[in-house]
Amino acid sequence: MPRKTGSYRITRFEGEQVRAFVPSPLPPKAPKLLLDANLETLHEKAQASLGQLKIAGKMVRSADWFLYGFVRKEAVITSQIEGTQATLRDVLSFEASADAEMSADVAEVCRYVEALQYARRELARRNGLPISTRLLCGAHQKLFRGPGSPGKQPGKIRTSQNWIGGSRPGNAQYVPPPAAEVATAMGQLEKWIHAEDPLPPLVRAGLAHVQFESIHPFLDGNGRIGRMLITLLLEHWQLLESPLLYLSLALKRRQDEYYDHLAAVRTKGDWEGWTGFYLECVQEAAADGVDMAQRIFALVEKDRRKVAEHPSATLSSVRLFDRLQSSPFITLQGAIDALDTSKPTAGSAIAALEDAGVLKETSGRKRGRIYAYQGYLRLLSRD
Ligand SMILES: Nc1ncnc2c1ncn2[C@@H]1O[C@H](COP(=O)(O)OP(=O)(O)OP(=O)(O)O)[C@@H](O)[C@H]1O
Ligand SMILES: [Mg+2]
Repeated sequence: MPRKTGSYRITRFEGEQVRAFVPSPLPPKAPKLLLDANLETLHEKAQASLGQLKIAGKMVRSADWFLYGFVRKEAVITSQIEGTQATLRDVLSFEASADAEMSADVAEVCRYVEALQYARRELARRNGLPISTRLLCGAHQKLFRGPGSPGKQPGKIRTSQNWIGGSRPGNAQYVPPPAAEVATAMGQLEKWIHAEDPLPPLVRAGLAHVQFESIHPFLDGNGRIGRMLITLLLEHWQLLESPLLYLSLALKRRQDEYYDHLAAVRTKGDWEGWTGFYLECVQEAAADGVDMAQRIFALVEKDRRKVAEHPSATLSSVRLFDRLQSSPFITLQGAIDALDTSKPTAGSAIAALEDAGVLKETSGRKRGRIYAYQGYLRLLSRD
């Protein structure tokens, strides 16, 4: 299997000699990446679990609950891989209450959600951007917009040398290509994504991620944009119809292995090892998603019935329950807006959901109270 996956360029960084890696364009060559029996089995299993997740995404009435929750779950965990401390609860409760003060970490997760939404909108729009360097730059721009990220060059391919691990390129674990090579390398990746290739699309999405990480085109956020690339490709290649796979959970559980496999592609040409690891993670994450979807489905059906049959039920309380699928935290103002109704009507709808044991006040405040759908949150934050 020893295979050359790129070459080194000797450059200088602040007077010190540096060996920067320039990855060869995909696909893996000499030898080609072949799926042996073991990889075939892993691929079939991962495909099957993804297929089930795709079906779960079509479950009437509950699909929006999954989509809302799973996208945010992925956003939180992909940011946690980097050390961001925000929890799912922090993020969802912030989204519900415009007045809550937002920590930098919560802001970062919310910006990930916006970046993903931007990219999916572009891909869905007639004449929108295809999966491309420009699209990823656009997503990066959203991820780092605002005053919190000085020096990160939002939306820009880097113009200086970066490195991973270590205090300078000279002692780094990995030195990605010199800045002058980045645009070409990204162009080659883009071209391969849109070219014909006999490898299964699920595998190709994993290869694209590694290649992206090897190029490391941005000054920061490469992990998150590179994992988003997988999400976008799975949808583009119709393995899913919406971003329901929260792959980062499986990657985070095996973070050391994740990084080791990225490195081994470069140092040992081990595309096979990466592919096996990645397919296991996809399978695990998809199966977890299917299980979660079933639990959410059961919970929501049970609670909807509880709400409808409760003595204090009103038409508005049932409608409000269904609105919780786009925000499991709600304020009085949020309920007024969601139901397009008066303050008393919204207030009694909230009270009815509290009585039914679905909503619980969480702020402890007299004004600007925030109510949470605890059962759903508990399920969604379970790891
Ligand atoms: N040895 C390696 N070779 C190539 N890529 C690596 C290696 N180790 C880690 N990575 C990738 O680099 C990412 C970190 O890069 P960067 O800090 O630019 O991205 P980020 O989104 O800010 O961070 P993160 O992944 O940590 O969220 C990791 O998530 C991983 O995907
Ligand atoms: Mg980072």
